[in-house]
Amino acid sequence: MQLSFKKIALGVLGVAGVSIAGVAAFAAYGVATADRRLTFKDTPYPSVTPSREPALIERGRYLTHGPAHCVQCHGRAERGQPELDRDPNLPLTGGLEFDLGPLGKTYAANLTPDARTGIGSRSPAELGRVIRTGVLADGRLSVIMRAASADLSDDDLRAVVSYLLSVPPVAKSVPAGSWSAVAKSVLPLFHLSPRNGGGPHGVAASAEPSVERGEYLAEHVSSCVACHTATDPMTLQPIGPKAGGSLPDRSHGSEPDKEFVAPNLTADPMTGRTGQLGEDEFLARMRKGRLFGASAMPWESFALNTTDADLRSVYRYLRTLPTVHNEVGPTYRERGWTRAR
Ligand code: HEC
Ligand code: HEC
Repeated sequence: MQLSFKKIALGVLGVAGVSIAGVAAFAAYGVATADRRLTFKDTPYPSVTPSREPALIERGRYLTHGPAHCVQCHGRAERGQPELDRDPNLPLTGGLEFDLGPLGKTYAANLTPDARTGIGSRSPAELGRVIRTGVLADGRLSVIMRAASADLSDDDLRAVVSYLLSVPPVAKSVPAGSWSAVAKSVLPLFHLSPRNGGGPHGVAASAEPSVERGEYLAEHVSSCVACHTATDPMTLQPIGPKAGGSLPDRSHGSEPDKEFVAPNLTADPMTGRTGQLGEDEFLARMRKGRLFGASAMPWESFALNTTDADLRSVYRYLRTLPTVHNEVGPTYRERGWTRAR
């Protein structure tokens, strides 16, 4: 099957990652159990007690705009406005469209606490559940949140929810997303399920970089490892060595004949970015930010809104992974690119 589902799931700035031919082949499969199979009403709620404590709110603000990069989807209604991220308090009014081709459309939610158009009527537990597991208040699984949201520790989840509830409400309606009939027949084949909501062991930010903080960020908060590892598009499970480079993924920007590949981040000296670059060089590369407008990597959150200590921690953790010798080639290239022999 030709479905490239990863972009639906992980493409922060991406749009449809679906081969029409592949979907058409399955359209006759029968609309049936999809709604039921994509609904997980029994998913437990985490216990989240929001607080107005300024240090906790600031911690949540930092994660939301920085390492957890929620702002890259929820902070704009149009793609290609990286300059917005220079505002560290950009309001999260949502509206960004995710065009999933024949599967339907959905829109990033307004996360300000407006009671009618935002999250003002959600309970802290409902907010905590969707952030951690991807299950929305009505029990449906948000495929996008399932794959792209952060798996926060208890303390960080409380910080993010406290921050979201602390900002001024902005009344702005965002259309509800819906799956097409095609999607309802195809999506159950992906065997998606909510993320395990147990919550990882967190490591608080510190001025002193550490491998432990880097592991928490790269694995759970910033999706570095998820995006930079080859992933089965049907199950979203990793199929390649950790951080050894992704499979190519069609560009969803203005050049659909191009593809992206997320490079090897391991410490292999020839082919891995943390082997090719020293720690200061890596930091400089992260600070330089986006080179390709349509790249799914949420560059601005890392380049503008993440501390040196956190980026150094990520580097140090990536260097501890088993090295992988895998030269992915140019990261933005013609579709179907192969190495000349
Ligand atoms: C890749 C884009 C993306 C990222 C990154 C992302 N979200 Fe979302 N989020 C969405 C979309 C799209 C929806 C709407 C649900 C749907 O249709 O899938 C949503 C829904 C939500 C909701 C439910 C709102 C409601 O009405 O109940 C909350 C809460 C939320 N996101 C919080 C977050 C937080 C916090 C982060 C960062 C930790 C985050 N999101 C990161 C795209 C994203
Ligand atoms: C949503 C997917 C996604 C996430 C999350 C992501 N990346 Fe990437 N990354 C990519 C893609 C795609 C490219 C290739 C295109 C580009 O350079 O923008 C890339 C490129 C890179 C590069 C190479 C830049 C160069 O000069 O060639 C580095 C370094 C990198 N990512 C590090 C990271 C780190 C560290 C994190 C986590 C803090 C991270 N990425 C998170 C998708 C992602």
